[in-house]
Amino acid sequence: MEKDNVVCIMGMGYVGLTLGAVMANKGFQVHGVEIDPATLGVIRQGKAHFYEVNLDALIRRGVKLGNLHFHSEIPSSIEFDVFLITVGTPLDDQGRPRMDMVEHVTDEICRRMRDGAMVILRSTVLMGTSLKVVKPKLDKTGKSYHLCFCPERTVEGKALEELVALPQIVGGLNEESVERAMSMFRRLTPTIVRVSSLMTAELIKLLDNSYRDLFFAFGNEVALMCESAGIDGQEVIQAANMGYPRTNIAKPGFVGGPCLEKDPHILMESLSPYGFVPGLIQRGRSINESMVPYIYAAVAKALGDRKTPVVTLMGLAFKGQPDTDDIRGSLALHMIRLFREKRPDARLRGQDYVCVDEMIRQQAGLEPVNDVEAFRGADAVIVMNNNRRYVALDIEQRAALMNRHSIIYDCWNMFQANLDIPSSVTLHVFGK
Ligand SMILES: NC(=O)c1ccc[n+]([C@@H]2O[C@H](COP(=O)([O-])OP(=O)(O)OC[C@H]3O[C@@H](n4cnc5c(N)ncnc54)[C@H](O)[C@@H]3O)[C@@H](O)[C@H]2O)c1
Repeated sequence: MEKDNVVCIMGMGYVGLTLGAVMANKGFQVHGVEIDPATLGVIRQGKAHFYEVNLDALIRRGVKLGNLHFHSEIPSSIEFDVFLITVGTPLDDQGRPRMDMVEHVTDEICRRMRDGAMVILRSTVLMGTSLKVVKPKLDKTGKSYHLCFCPERTVEGKALEELVALPQIVGGLNEESVERAMSMFRRLTPTIVRVSSLMTAELIKLLDNSYRDLFFAFGNEVALMCESAGIDGQEVIQAANMGYPRTNIAKPGFVGGPCLEKDPHILMESLSPYGFVPGLIQRGRSINESMVPYIYAAVAKALGDRKTPVVTLMGLAFKGQPDTDDIRGSLALHMIRLFREKRPDARLRGQDYVCVDEMIRQQAGLEPVNDVEAFRGADAVIVMNNNRRYVALDIEQRAALMNRHSIIYDCWNMFQANLDIPSSVTLHVFGK
């Protein structure tokens, strides 16, 4: 039997379930704890409660091997070697990072852990959480333990391949903690990056996502400057990048999702006790957050004062590539909010290639339509994400289904061909 083989993962959301399924298939005895009864009900049937390529098959295999088990609380009959914390750390209504779920599961672990267990934080946390929040709780138990922060850095849609390929950052409380976590993660992935402290590892995770957010913000700023100067920003970006190894400007578009919308804020909040304001990162985030009001304003202007306009949002998941049905943090939700607030007379409809109709109804509160109905009788169609299937749409034929003086706002430059659409329909590509 391998060392540290019996593992308890606290939180069977996206991060916990993908990790648990991969570990179970690598021979670990994985026990996933999930408090949400609806989620637990689904995973106990051997499938994921969200869309992720190949995950259902991996869960079924883990269960069949007898290596993957799900519980509503930490089973008292099992002596766990390792506890992994994968609960959510969203922003609250005031935009402040919530660490209460991390604190809560730490308390539960403290009650149930055996002497000598290892605790690994994998949720994205405010810098200092491992040392200043989790460690004091563990200390109070009087038991010996090891403590590490080992961030999850996979991208939704590729989690299963990335969990066994990406370098794993490991920061620990002490040498033995680091060595122990490293030998556990070596069973998953070939490259381990050992860093000098818990806080170093926490910061790296926040920086990875803040860097990505800023990268996208640069593309959005180029698009905005080109729109104001009347220059084709899509052409500028393509030409600037083409064959030139020192420039890589991102395609402009919406930047959201469960990580990018919050992690730069967690970083800013983390640095505030030190009196440091990461101005570049702050500005990047606010550019990305300004996209919804900016595009809403353009669509609202095109709609003018017509009564009860029909508006379709296409692509509700927070990104279109790779496929995901995750609506959390999607800017489509912000767009919906803005319409409800400013144009309550608008009839809003939603289309998505990955989210099922029930999700469109329940999570987005929209009437689901397919990619033909999306255009029929519409006054505005807004393409919110970059799902590849939009490129293949016969947009000329679809535009002919729309009302006169209507607008298609293509936020992602999906409809690039020379189009012959009816003159009564305006096609606006963001940045063009
Ligand atoms: N989603 C991603 O792609 C991603 C990638 C890297 C890092 N992260 C970070 O990982 C963390 C988890 O993300 P997620 O997307 O999986 O979140 P999530 O909200 O989807 O999942 C967390 C799960 O924990 C459960 N939970 C909450 N309290 C619990 C408790 N006391 N006991 C047992 N279960 C409990 C929730 O019901 C939920 O199912 C976050 O900090 C996030 O920022 C997410």
